[in-house]
Amino acid sequence: MTENRLVEDVLRRLSGFFRDTPRPVLLHAPSIPSSAWTLVKDCLDTGWISSAGSYVTQFENDLATVTGARRVVATVNGTAALQVALTLCGVCPGDEVLIPSLTFVATANAVRHCGGIPHLVDVEPRRLGVDADRLDDHLSGILKHTPAGPVSRQTGRPVRVLCVMHCLGHPADLDALEDVCRRHHLVLVEDAAESLGSWYKDEHTGCRGRMAAVSFNGNKIISTGGGGALLTNDDDLADRARHLTSTGKVPHPWEFIHDQVAWNYRMPNINAALGCAQLELLPRLLSAKRALADRYRLLFADCDGVTFLTEPPECRSNYWLNAILLSESAADQRDELLRRLNESGIQARPLWHPMHRLPMYADCPRADLEVTEDLCRRIINIPSSAHLAPDWKTESV
Ligand SMILES: Cc1ncc(COP(=O)(O)O)c(C=O)c1O
Repeated sequence: MTENRLVEDVLRRLSGFFRDTPRPVLLHAPSIPSSAWTLVKDCLDTGWISSAGSYVTQFENDLATVTGARRVVATVNGTAALQVALTLCGVCPGDEVLIPSLTFVATANAVRHCGGIPHLVDVEPRRLGVDADRLDDHLSGILKHTPAGPVSRQTGRPVRVLCVMHCLGHPADLDALEDVCRRHHLVLVEDAAESLGSWYKDEHTGCRGRMAAVSFNGNKIISTGGGGALLTNDDDLADRARHLTSTGKVPHPWEFIHDQVAWNYRMPNINAALGCAQLELLPRLLSAKRALADRYRLLFADCDGVTFLTEPPECRSNYWLNAILLSESAADQRDELLRRLNESGIQARPLWHPMHRLPMYADCPRADLEVTEDLCRRIINIPSSAHLAPDWKTESV
């Protein structure tokens, strides 16, 4: 297909799709229910605006109900949650942590904030999560097992943790990845920042790993302005996470005693109030986003050179960000397509630059990253807000 034909075809389809939608059509806008006003006003009226307020606990309990995680600890953002998760799962300064190169930079930053070194691995071409088979091969080649745990033969550094990421909301293959962890004596951590409402088989993402991090940043399916949460089924880890994110303060009605170096990472009450209001809307948000994805699937079904990315088998994705994959021969048309879409008021963007292409992570140890390289040239994210779904406007928020 010639350059113009593909660009014109996708532009025509999306312009028609958003014929009646005011410009700009944003990539992902939050859906805030009117109840948020009441809850946030309650914080302001009562003065409970910081992290000691009761909405923080309510939000944690509501999240536990939604995800099925035994325990939840709400934090200031997802990066902080991931840093704490990695620390509690044993990452020490100088350790290598296996992460996908195809991720948002916060995954790698969280590793560095623990003093660790990202060890970058490749992903599956359609599922976009860490490729378990290729990871297994890679680890079989580079790990040696010592009484203190696995160590990289290449660098001599300990490798204790695999942190997987559920990319754009599509669950990684947790069964296969858990097997790899078992074989190589690694702890599994989940970066579930993008996957609230996504299920792997009958399990919510973020519940398989020893710990997981979720994000409620501005563009996430639920946004508390900024915010995050740790999920775990381990009571001891949850208690330690709660303590570590609360300046290590020993509970006491008036004394200020702190028993370890710790962080001030608790989510403030105002943000949690926003989260409580939106969580009530989550089932509707999820069904709207799935309906939108289904419309896109039909829209692109007969579009030459374009594949709409759908959820992996046996999974239910939240379709956080919808994505189209350009064919190999159309890859060089990506930038022109992005330019034309954005010029016409339809926000679209490429995937992130993979970690091994960023200056601060370019020298990290890595596996072969051919799939990551390929996907980064060919994927485009397209507008994904819940309110773009058919029928959304007819129901009141
Ligand atoms: C994959 C991934 N990990 C981590 C984060 C970090 O979350 P936050 O922005 O809340 O710190 C995000 C989102 O922003 C993300 O997409």
